[in-house]
Amino acid sequence: MNIELLNKSNSDLKTDITLVFLTPTQLKKNSKKTILKKAGFEATQDSLCFLHDKEMLMCGVASNNADDIRSATCVAIKALNKTKYKSVKLLIDDKSLIFAFVEGFVLGGYTYDNYKSKKSKTALQQVSFIYLNDDYKLAIKNFSDAIIVADATCFTRDIVNTIPEDLNPPSFAKLAKKLAKDNSLMCEILGEKELKKEKCNAILAVGRASRHDSQLIHLTYKPKNPKKIISLIGKGLTYDSGGLSLKPGASMVTMKMDKAGACAVLGIIKAVSELKLDIEVHAFVGAVENMIGGNAYKPDDVLVSRSGKTIEVRNTDAEGRLVLADVLDFAQDKVNANYMFDFATLTGACMVALGQYTTGVMGHSTRLKHSISKASSNAGELTASLPFNKHLNKQIKSEIADICNMSNKPYGGAITAGLFLDAFIKKQNKQKWLHFDIAGSAYTESPWDVNVYGGTGAGVRFMSEFLKTL
Ligand code: BES
Ligand code: ZN
Ligand code: ZN
Repeated sequence: MNIELLNKSNSDLKTDITLVFLTPTQLKKNSKKTILKKAGFEATQDSLCFLHDKEMLMCGVASNNADDIRSATCVAIKALNKTKYKSVKLLIDDKSLIFAFVEGFVLGGYTYDNYKSKKSKTALQQVSFIYLNDDYKLAIKNFSDAIIVADATCFTRDIVNTIPEDLNPPSFAKLAKKLAKDNSLMCEILGEKELKKEKCNAILAVGRASRHDSQLIHLTYKPKNPKKIISLIGKGLTYDSGGLSLKPGASMVTMKMDKAGACAVLGIIKAVSELKLDIEVHAFVGAVENMIGGNAYKPDDVLVSRSGKTIEVRNTDAEGRLVLADVLDFAQDKVNANYMFDFATLTGACMVALGQYTTGVMGHSTRLKHSISKASSNAGELTASLPFNKHLNKQIKSEIADICNMSNKPYGGAITAGLFLDAFIKKQNKQKWLHFDIAGSAYTESPWDVNVYGGTGAGVRFMSEFLKTL
């Protein structure tokens, strides 16, 4: 499917069908209102009405705000994909809505059929947005930025959706190398030999029972005179069986998505490099597989992390925080960043706290959390703050080591996981760091908003939006 933004000169473009978005108020003034009324179309949010003989598809929206437009566009593209129409056009007169239309078409129309023997084929090949106002140049910038971010989101979804047999730590490293080559990024990969030298014992312990070597991946996007330096850190559990604290069968299904934080980080650096933003961005990924076996790490082990802090393991399924402890420490030694953000499918507790749709935001800087909240609402992603407090720190105290990887109480699990990570953030970086728990938001088995079955690409849109404002 090709999407383009056209201006006045091609406004008389002929396509198979035209999309028209209408609020209930706009419907009352529409020239087709009688026939639409007959068909029972009331322009309620996400309702559709094909007028085939008029070559029109009417789409209902509650209002003309971005969230409503995005949602209605998703419904429209799904309906169009079931028809034989090859080309569609729509008139846009507010350039601030271009990104919502693009996201609706690209993200709502996304399908992943890599493992189907019969690939889904749609007739629709051409989508043309027509923008008639004078500031076409500004509109085309909005349009191309939106395409870059939406494509990066789909790139992230594709990796999340790849099965653990195809995407394991070494093949993840290979994929990162290819991204680096395609987008002119620098790329450093640490295999197990280098991880030993770096004393990344927590990473090595988690990955020890896997037949795949653990990897630490570091990609860098470095423009000429960067205004800021950003470090992004991603949890890349290419599979999380739970380890010896084995997950029950039903909870293990979907755990290929435990690499979604790492996939988001790759998607974000891809977007930033294509948007050509004036900031230096580092992506750090711990790619590890958490398995069982005679050489698996155990509940009762004490690990000496890269930072020197010792960790009592009481549950091998709380492995993400162990991997991140080493990656965060490595990232802070390598780069003196202005901001540090980690993305991780870290806890089921985050889904219990916020529901499946919302990313949990944790950290010390109220200002930074506020900026992220603004960016996410502009980008159409849901985030909410889960506040730290000193009392919860008691829950991850250990009798035998510096810290414990599991809380001694069943409450506040998302926050205690965030506080565990906080223990590996150096004093001077406390205000620069935020942790994003995307356990719920990164993957879905039922469609919602712009998301279809599988990886959602959570994090890519709101972080790209935030980085654009720097
Ligand atoms: N990868 C899981 C968290 C998760 C759960 C992500 C469901 C997405 C959906 C993580 O490694 C994990 O297993 N966490 C445990 C921590 C507990 C053992 C302290 C959890 O949430 O149950
Ligand atoms: Zn786990
Ligand atoms: Zn995990």
